[in-house]
Amino acid sequence: MIHLCIEEKLQAAVRAVLPDADASRIWVRPCPDLQHGDYQTNALMALAKQQRRNPRELATAVVAQLDVTPWCARVEIAGPGFLNFHLAPHAINAALQEALGTGHSFFKKATTPRTIVIDFSSPNVAKPMHVGHIRSTILGDALARVFRLLGHRVITDNHIGDWGTQFGMLLVGWKTLLDAATLERDPIAEMERLYQAINLAAKEDERIREQARAELVKLQSGDAENLGIWRRMLELSQSQFDNVYGRLGIQFDHTLGESFYNDQLGAVLAELARAGIAEESDGALVVFFRDHATMNDNPAIIRKSDGAANYASTDLATLRHRVEQWQAQEILYVTDGRQQLHFQQVFTIYQRWHPQMTARLEHVWFGSILGPDGKPFKTREGGVVKLAALLDEAEERALTAVTQKNPDLDEATRREIARAVGLGALKYADLSNNRQSDYTFDWDKMLALQGNTAPYLQYACTRVRSIFRKGEVADLSGATIALAAPQELALAKRLLNFGIALETVAAEYRPNYLCNYLYELAGDFTAFYEACPVLKAGDAERQSRLALCKLTGQVLHEGLGLLGIEVPEKM
Ligand code: ARG
Repeated sequence: MIHLCIEEKLQAAVRAVLPDADASRIWVRPCPDLQHGDYQTNALMALAKQQRRNPRELATAVVAQLDVTPWCARVEIAGPGFLNFHLAPHAINAALQEALGTGHSFFKKATTPRTIVIDFSSPNVAKPMHVGHIRSTILGDALARVFRLLGHRVITDNHIGDWGTQFGMLLVGWKTLLDAATLERDPIAEMERLYQAINLAAKEDERIREQARAELVKLQSGDAENLGIWRRMLELSQSQFDNVYGRLGIQFDHTLGESFYNDQLGAVLAELARAGIAEESDGALVVFFRDHATMNDNPAIIRKSDGAANYASTDLATLRHRVEQWQAQEILYVTDGRQQLHFQQVFTIYQRWHPQMTARLEHVWFGSILGPDGKPFKTREGGVVKLAALLDEAEERALTAVTQKNPDLDEATRREIARAVGLGALKYADLSNNRQSDYTFDWDKMLALQGNTAPYLQYACTRVRSIFRKGEVADLSGATIALAAPQELALAKRLLNFGIALETVAAEYRPNYLCNYLYELAGDFTAFYEACPVLKAGDAERQSRLALCKLTGQVLHEGLGLLGIEVPEKM
């Protein structure tokens, strides 16, 4: 990894000039404009400011100590104190040659792997998974894949909502309104109907509210009948979730829902009260953040006045389990932005409770998916969009497009392509947006073959493949990579930056960096392919260019794989 070699030498040079400075965060990044160089660092300017030194003087002193001759043709000081590094062509050739030999693509595994728990998807029992769960599911899965590839120990945990007051209503509904035939045919719809009917009735009728409370108490105290019904609701929901996960190619290491922590909650609450972290207030158990700058007006209730634990108390028990049982060093919670206060409260309470804890806790939050009208995405009838229906529609629409393009393919093949393209498009539309911005759901845009879309990238992969098919290329192990044309060099330099894209995703929990990188890579490939003949080139050049194609295909594939996107054989 050339940039890491340069970085290492740069840090050594900084240490030679400033023995006391922290050089560990002196990084090089790709130059936004290749005219200026291939890599650059702006870190010396910040360092100069810190050290009260003239930035250009500092840069000059660092360059005097810097030896990057194996990789760079030259290093320049630019502007107020940037360093620009120009790679030496032989170093680029050598890096690609090595990747070709090892089959390893341009990233480095973490030197100190961490144990990272990722809590994502986490839908609720007896409710359909809706479009709001899609971002969590897709984002969480992509992050898990990236961290795994980088060598971390990743534990994925689906914290499903399988406990809580809603079961009081559901039990009343199940016992009084259940339609067995519908339950058989569409269990989620039936459970949703039961909940809505009882919820509505309870608003009018105090007796129904009372009934629901009584059923809940029975469930919580282990009544056999209610537990049996609850288990049945869980099974029916889980099989719906599994169906969606199967289609999306997503797996979890654990599915420890809220109910898993139920018998720990009493002790957790007692400990928090004993430690003086929580206090009684109007019958509830509450944590105040009195001297906190932003949360001082938002105390957290961890036991309601009716004695019931809640979402917050469950998350405290969950957090303890992950830190103590799994030795988590980093825990990511992938949910929508409306839960920011909740997680801020939970993290703060936990830190008071376990001041020695060193795990990094991150709420990886995301914005909303909007409909064409700019309002939260709804069905035409104004209902919530169900995830399963969305997957169906993605495949259906992709099938229409595939059929238009390849009317002669048999139906099974067209369906298989449409599955990869449709689901890929849906995932990519989500991942390619900055997760904290809202984005507008647009079928035509996400399925387009042009632009920053999954089909565009999948198509680029199939193009690489078809070059190899047409050329009947078997073995490239003897190829010598020698790049000359500017388009070859630009493509090669982009390949070298795959690792940087992955590191950025991991540092900020933002897969959109990887999407942008792949989009740029595919663009560089197109430019190269238009300017440089491959199969018609002379022997040595042909081998070198084929090698470049092969490495591009490899990175595109690996990158899409990290986003959970399959590449069809042809399109
Ligand atoms: N079930 C919750 C929901 O649908 C998400 C749970 C997120 N994870 C957690 N540990 N609180 O909103």
